[in-house]
Amino acid sequence: MEVHIFNQQKQLKEYADKYHVQLEAWAPFGEGRGGTFDNELIKGIGDKYGKITAQIMLRWHIQRGVVVIPKSTHYERMVENYNVFDFELSEEDMNEIAKLDTATSSFFSHQDPAMVEWFVKMVEERKQNNRSEKEKKNW
Ligand SMILES: NC(=O)c1ccc[n+]([C@@H]2O[C@H](COP(=O)([O-])OP(=O)(O)OC[C@H]3O[C@@H](n4cnc5c(N)ncnc54)[C@H](OP(=O)(O)O)[C@@H]3O)[C@@H](O)[C@H]2O)c1
Repeated sequence: MEVHIFNQQKQLKEYADKYHVQLEAWAPFGEGRGGTFDNELIKGIGDKYGKITAQIMLRWHIQRGVVVIPKSTHYERMVENYNVFDFELSEEDMNEIAKLDTATSSFFSHQDPAMVEWFVKMVEERKQNNRSEKEKKNW
């Protein structure tokens, strides 16, 4: 599910825990939307631990029990993103980060039927385009 500092899925997490369902974050950094990498609170917490904002966000997920598979196209960032197992956020810091939640998607509403219709159409169009690309290659 979409889980990041601005859309923390608190209720969903409670239910997932209750029924032993493992929550995994897609877009664990919210793809940077809304300024996740530049957030002042996260930066301030990072300064205390000598960590960058990406590492604070990943550590927060891990301490909540949310699986993270962050994506980066930069080798140095991949290394940074692994380097989150040598510190622990305090309960106070975890509680401060919890306050950043807006309980709103940074992408689009999955409950809006018009949006779902648009999304399905977009996926279908992509499938069609990919198919014609493959057909071209076979010629
Ligand atoms: N979002 C979706 O719709 C979706 C759907 C299905 C699966 N997933 C999977 O979920 C995983 C991650 O999702 P995502 O790529 O959408 O979002 P994300 O992990 O929240 O954000 C990826 C972005 O963060 C940047 N980044 C990564 N590490 C960084 C660091 N240490 N410092 C600064 N910037 C950093 C990356 O830039 P650079 O690449 O330039 O470093 C990239 O722009 C991927 O494995 C993806 O395949 C996502």
